[in-house]
Amino acid sequence: MTTVIREPAEFRRACDDARRASGRVGLVPTMGALHAGHLSLVDEASRRADFLAVTIFVNPLQFAADEDLQRYPKTLEHDLQSCQQRGVDVVFAPDTDAMYPDCFQTQVRVAELAKPLEGVFRPTHFEGVTTVVAKLFNLTGPCAAVFGRKDYQQWKVLCRMVGDLDMPIEVVGCPIVREPDGLALSSRNRYLSEADRHRALAIVEGLRAAHDAWEHGERKPSVLENAAATPVEAVFDRIDYVAAVDPETLEPSATSPERLLIAAAAHLGSTRLIDNVVLGEDPRP
Ligand code: PAJ
Repeated sequence: MTTVIREPAEFRRACDDARRASGRVGLVPTMGALHAGHLSLVDEASRRADFLAVTIFVNPLQFAADEDLQRYPKTLEHDLQSCQQRGVDVVFAPDTDAMYPDCFQTQVRVAELAKPLEGVFRPTHFEGVTTVVAKLFNLTGPCAAVFGRKDYQQWKVLCRMVGDLDMPIEVVGCPIVREPDGLALSSRNRYLSEADRHRALAIVEGLRAAHDAWEHGERKPSVLENAAATPVEAVFDRIDYVAAVDPETLEPSATSPERLLIAAAAHLGSTRLIDNVVLGEDPRP
């Protein structure tokens, strides 16, 4: 039976009790509107822990004023059913005031890794993410916390935070779950009209073109980046970036890398989509 908890202190008690009783607590932080991508993280957490906690909190700190905080989808009843089916022990779904009372004034910031890619277009985003995730880690005390590589930079930033602050938590990054046609699952896909849903595939087409070129022996980052960018430029309304970077530093990569991250963010109308592939590591998207 999944328990729903709204109060931070009560959630902390439930996790403390679980740790005493059964040992390993696993955490999957989310903003809700759960789909099969999120649930794959829950499955991974359940392989690593005896007690499963999922958090559902649309974190205002990580949204800029012009972003989609107000319209972010909320499907709590459906999310709880999904969690129940997956054997989640507790869902923590706090109110904003409980997480950020009026006196709140602390921020956790990872300096360098948060700067490129998303950081250029969403300069305050990762501070919001690291701050809320640090709070969730402190409330939960998990052995393992599971994230998706769909948000590749987020995963890397959080790995850095845990390392730098000596948090005793294993941070796990899971593969991207895609629709049968290749589109990465995202809570934001539901904003897309039927026509835009089809146009969105250009981002996968770009990643596949880069992957195919890599498989044929191409190793020049600029060529691989262009292969990925061409279909996106032809179809999307606005491109934030299509970039080929080092998968660890997220900075421009060596000339003939062993692995290369191709990451893209682009807009269709008012919907912003992101996707990525690590060449030399991931299967064809
Ligand atoms: P949210 O967008 O709800 O995503 C929660 C987790 O699900 C993240 O780790 C994300 O990378 C993962 N995820 C989303 N789509 C996925 C897909 N198609 N395949 C695999 N994993 C996928 O990311 C956030 O929330 C927030 O920033 C959060 C970490 C909860 C902090 O507020």
